[in-house]
Amino acid sequence: MGIEISIGADHGGYEIKQILIKWLEQKLISTKDFGTYSIESADYPVFGHQVAVAVQNNECDFGILICGSGQGMSITANKYQGIRAALCWNKTIAILARQHNNANILVLPGRFLNIIEAIAITEAFLTTKFEGGCHKKRIDMIDANALSTPQLQTNGASIRNRVIKLYKQQRLNSAINKKVFGIKSKSIGGSRSKLK
Ligand code: RB5
Repeated sequence: MGIEISIGADHGGYEIKQILIKWLEQKLISTKDFGTYSIESADYPVFGHQVAVAVQNNECDFGILICGSGQGMSITANKYQGIRAALCWNKTIAILARQHNNANILVLPGRFLNIIEAIAITEAFLTTKFEGGCHKKRIDMIDANALSTPQLQTNGASIRNRVIKLYKQQRLNSAINKKVFGIKSKSIGGSRSKLK
């Protein structure tokens, strides 16, 4: 396939990682292994951050991350702008993650897959192309600033309206507390002029 992959796992994904590396090498796909290097308990963010940074810096074509449930690795990697880490537990999800989401990191739930399933999911992910079209626009929207992007103005306005509503509700609560219970409540919203 002629591609390079950064790979990382905690103890919950170590064994699958080792077998995947061998399988990838047989397919002439080179790997950079960020660890962990044994079944000793290890903290998944250590490996999630390193693989996400390697993908973000275009040091490789794709990343693969494996932990017990896959959740910790997904949450960590998706902190990075431009990273689209997809937790995939079967082939169809992996294909859709590439076709629709142009996912650049495959996340596997190591404790919920056998090695045959892990290889099948990985192969599906690596051989499926992004479809582009309407999916490209949506991916651009993920990376956008919600309050300044024209396509998201409606959502931006509704977020602002919710803040104003919350502020009004809080003022009403304060008034009720003062009148009925004689309690003086602290303002959470700051001065009203800040919201204009
Ligand atoms: C480790 O026990 C486990 O929490 C980790 O592998 C992963 O499932 C976290 O999301």
